[in-house]
Amino acid sequence: MVNLTFTFMLLMLPVVFSAIEVGAQQQPSNITLGSILYPNRNPSSWPSSSGLFLFGFYQKGDGFQVGIWLGEKTVVWSANRDDPPVHSDAYMEFTKEGKLILWTKQNMKVIAESPHPVTSASMLDSGNFVLYNKTNVVWESSDYPTDTILIGQRLTSGHNLVSSVSEVDHSSGRFYLSMQADGNLVAYPTNYLNRPEASYWAFMLQSRGEFGDVRSVFVGLTPRGQLFRNASNGFRFQVNTIANSSNQSSTNRAGVIYRATLDPDGIFRLYTHRFDNSSLEINWSALQNQCQARGFCGVNSYCTARNGSSIGDCSCFPGFLYVNRAMKFQGCYRGFVYEESCGSSRDSTLAYNVTAIQHLKLGGYPFSQVSMVEQDCGNSCLEDCTCWAALYVNGVCSKFKLPLIYSTLDPTDESAKTFIKQSYNISQMAGHSIPYPGKRGNRNKSRKEIILILSLALGSVAFLFTVVAICSYAFYRNSADQYQKLLENPYLGTNEEFTLRSFSFSELEKATEHFKYEIRHGSFGNLYKGILSEGNRTVAVKRLEKIGDEGEREFKAEMTAIGQARHKNLVHLLGFCLEGSEKILVYEYMSNGSLADILFSSEIRPSWELRMKLALDISTGILYLHEKCETCIIHCNIKPHNILVDDSWTAKISDFGIAKFLVPDQVGNQLQVKATRGYLAPELQNSALISDKADVYSYGVMLLEIICCRSNMDVNVSTEDEIYLPTWVHKCFVENDLKKLVGDEEIDVKSLERMVKVGLLCIHDNPDLRPSMRNVVLMLEGTMDIPFLALY
Ligand SMILES: *[C@@H]1O[C@H](CO)[C@@H](O)[C@H](O)[C@H]1NC(C)=O
Ligand SMILES: *[C@@H]1O[C@H](CO)[C@@H](O)[C@H](O)[C@H]1NC(C)=O
Ligand SMILES: *[C@@H]1O[C@H](CO)[C@@H](O)[C@H](O)[C@H]1NC(C)=O
Ligand SMILES: *[C@@H]1O[C@H](CO)[C@@H](O)[C@H](O)[C@H]1NC(C)=O
Ligand SMILES: *[C@@H]1O[C@H](CO)[C@@H](O)[C@H](O)[C@H]1NC(C)=O
Ligand SMILES: *[C@@H]1O[C@H](CO)[C@@H](O)[C@H](O)[C@H]1NC(C)=O
Ligand SMILES: *[C@@H]1O[C@H](CO)[C@@H](O)[C@H](O)[C@H]1NC(C)=O
Ligand SMILES: *[C@@H]1O[C@H](CO)[C@@H](O)[C@H](O)[C@H]1NC(C)=O
Ligand SMILES: *[C@@H]1O[C@H](CO)[C@@H](O)[C@H](O)[C@H]1NC(C)=O
Ligand SMILES: *[C@@H]1O[C@H](CO)[C@@H](O)[C@H](O)[C@H]1NC(C)=O
Repeated sequence: MVNLTFTFMLLMLPVVFSAIEVGAQQQPSNITLGSILYPNRNPSSWPSSSGLFLFGFYQKGDGFQVGIWLGEKTVVWSANRDDPPVHSDAYMEFTKEGKLILWTKQNMKVIAESPHPVTSASMLDSGNFVLYNKTNVVWESSDYPTDTILIGQRLTSGHNLVSSVSEVDHSSGRFYLSMQADGNLVAYPTNYLNRPEASYWAFMLQSRGEFGDVRSVFVGLTPRGQLFRNASNGFRFQVNTIANSSNQSSTNRAGVIYRATLDPDGIFRLYTHRFDNSSLEINWSALQNQCQARGFCGVNSYCTARNGSSIGDCSCFPGFLYVNRAMKFQGCYRGFVYEESCGSSRDSTLAYNVTAIQHLKLGGYPFSQVSMVEQDCGNSCLEDCTCWAALYVNGVCSKFKLPLIYSTLDPTDESAKTFIKQSYNISQMAGHSIPYPGKRGNRNKSRKEIILILSLALGSVAFLFTVVAICSYAFYRNSADQYQKLLENPYLGTNEEFTLRSFSFSELEKATEHFKYEIRHGSFGNLYKGILSEGNRTVAVKRLEKIGDEGEREFKAEMTAIGQARHKNLVHLLGFCLEGSEKILVYEYMSNGSLADILFSSEIRPSWELRMKLALDISTGILYLHEKCETCIIHCNIKPHNILVDDSWTAKISDFGIAKFLVPDQVGNQLQVKATRGYLAPELQNSALISDKADVYSYGVMLLEIICCRSNMDVNVSTEDEIYLPTWVHKCFVENDLKKLVGDEEIDVKSLERMVKVGLLCIHDNPDLRPSMRNVVLMLEGTMDIPFLALY
């Protein structure tokens, strides 16, 4: 009996010790200089005074991460969340100088510091970890939200919540929620670049007048669990739909904590933690089902909502295989043999079929959209070698290339039907799969054949001829009403910021000596050099041809819009002449000619540094046209011939805005425009609606030309692969042999690789996967990582 008791005591001993240890850990939350935390020995955390929140090391995989957690294991904040976890021999020191430093064997990392002298730190009961100087809070973790906002914390304008990878891995995951500078709270997938079309949830401003100054807008959480958006004029709008519960459940408020988290599945949820009976409930959820979060399932797979739950299941399309069977949301790849190129000589051993799936809806951007009957839709895809899937909804057949994105299966949706194409080897028949990301192509085509194919695909090699594509002229955002105002105002030059001069025809005739010195022959009309008598200023005079029969007022309004677009990377419009059928534009003169002259005609290659600068200049100019100027403009004809270079080697875009009124065929906001083959985005060849992504495509082709100093189409090359530049660059990229592109030039490999990746991304067939011009600028500057998933 004694023996038994003794054994029992021995067994109990560790339990008693650990209880004491836990007690010892409950220090007051005033953390003094010189304190140290360890991953797996005490103290390993600093608790808040109630003990609900803890700051310290938490377990991540085999290692440890620094963060703040609630209760047992709900991590609400992490320091440097994307750093690899540290080993158990690391430690964290709140130094005598008042810095919070994480030491590992190899190095140190500052977690928190302040320019002011720090005297103490504290883990507050709100979940906020703060550093104090004598009088104030000088650093707080709540200024750097990760995936969660807590009571009292603010997600301010321009900041994001980024979801975690999973419940146990709190590194940056697949979705983000942005408190945008325009006042809207919007959720996006991270993998597919920041695009308005990719957003899947938004708490929009009710009206533009809702707030005084949207830049001071923020989203916060009240102690009663109300998620709200606030702004400078004090208006509050509740994001969640909780009723006023203040007085009914006032019993144990002290034991209740709310948090709002962008969960790993992309859904923004409000949670209630109750500590009286340690329960955790979802109080509000922005979406009901995971399939509603765009991009929840990766490329080439579709999402199916499980009955009566919020879970979405990801399934590969027929013929496709999971990239990672353990993580099905990562997407799928083609599990069948296929021809890489789409040419005239189809491999005779390959056959194709389509599988129809009811209720399945493809997302993303089709390359073609045509009305037809259902059976024809599948057949049309079968016969089109660029098509890999087709969606049939209400009499319209939309064809898609790979990768397929944002697809969902909704059994209640009777209207949608999808056709998925696959190819198989007739001589092998048995569905034989190939390893990821293997590709097979037919490399034995004769040179003649290739040229023929290219000619068919791209139009004439010898002459760059123009085609007509539909162009919707750029009224994204609220610019339409501004445009309307301009139309109503026939007077120009009333605004001090821009004064366009109106020239008489005789004046310009004199300046150009009867249009004697032609600088360039352009698609919109010829450009002449001239000297204005007043001020002796050299100008470039563009005499528009084949102009639409448009009203004077409209032309003037258009000129005003173009004149307002002022940026260092845009050619500056000085004035215009409108007399009878003559429409003439007067621009500043650019002494160094066009980018085409510099790249293609000059004996010496411009330096790599200059080329990088020109590329950045141009992207900045296009970004301005797309986003920053009053009436946004899609250029529609970006090519080296339209980029001019001034005497200080700054690249400037010309001919912007003219595309709009050159062709008379107007249908609402859709206009027809001339674009140049070779630079024309593939979706336009199928007369899809144009978007700013068409300019991104043209820019991408031009970027490759800038990198390689050659035209996108060149038959005077040593191998057939090199004829069409995008194909060749892609080949060199896949083969990891970029040096080939620049010959014997000495070029920093990193910057070359960056330029090439950006260029290839811009010319992606799928406009959704092309970056926005804003992101192009960031990527070229090196401030944004380049997602290259789409490049293979
Ligand atoms: C923390 O403790 C130090 C020393 O005991 C004291 O001087 C300081 O005022 C305390 N700070 C807070 C915020 O309580
Ligand atoms: C403490 O920090 C605040 C800024 O947050 C600063 O204005 C103040 O002067 C600092 N006080 C001391 C004693 O350093
Ligand atoms: C909302 O903003 C106004 C003005 O900035 C401010 O006075 C008010 O306290 C804010 N409300 C909350 C809950 O922060
Ligand atoms: C909450 O209560 C306030 C007044 O106490 C009221 O103005 C508001 O409309 C209520 N909100 C809801 C969602 O019932
Ligand atoms: C809640 O109760 C307090 C006092 O008990 C009262 O003044 C207040 O109006 C109540 N609020 C609501 C929304 O009923
Ligand atoms: C905890 O208590 C709340 C109310 O106080 C109740 O709604 C909830 O169901 C309880 N949860 C558990 C797990 O007991
Ligand atoms: C949300 O929280 C309030 C207050 O605690 C509670 O009354 C309400 O039932 C909760 N709603 C849900 C859906 O859990
Ligand atoms: C889901 O619900 C639909 C109709 O509500 C039913 O036809 C189907 O069998 C259900 N599926 C499962 C897996 O329960
Ligand atoms: C298409 O071909 C593949 C490979 O042979 C086969 O597995 C699949 O069943 C076929 N689909 C249809 C609809 O015939
Ligand atoms: C199809 O199979 C035959 C015989 O195995 C092989 O020679 C041929 O290359 C295959 N075709 C493709 C496109 O893989």
